[in-house]
Amino acid sequence: MPRITYVAADQSERTLDLPVGTTVMRGALLHDVDGIAGQCGGYVQCATCHVYVGPDSPAALDAVDSEEDMMLEFTACPRTRDSRLSCQIKVTEDLDGLRVRLPEQQL
Ligand code: FES
Repeated sequence: MPRITYVAADQSERTLDLPVGTTVMRGALLHDVDGIAGQCGGYVQCATCHVYVGPDSPAALDAVDSEEDMMLEFTACPRTRDSRLSCQIKVTEDLDGLRVRLPEQQL
């Protein structure tokens, strides 16, 4: 299973083996990773699953689509060019090793 690492704002880390087909948001919620709220359940309507992905992210990461792009304007912490909604990051084998940084707050 692909391994995804969540890096909290205090730099503590959790690495999870997630099944292909889930999302980075859902994996966090199922494993009680603090720092991702996911209030809308993954329907791109809340921006409480905001994460930052670094420039060393796997190239297989899908591009931001227009719906995600619009909702990223409503994140609690500043949007940067590394911002993504983790509910829109589908876990694939190619994402093995992905590291996402969590913002200081989601609400
Ligand atoms: Fe609501 Fe991602 S969980 S936008």
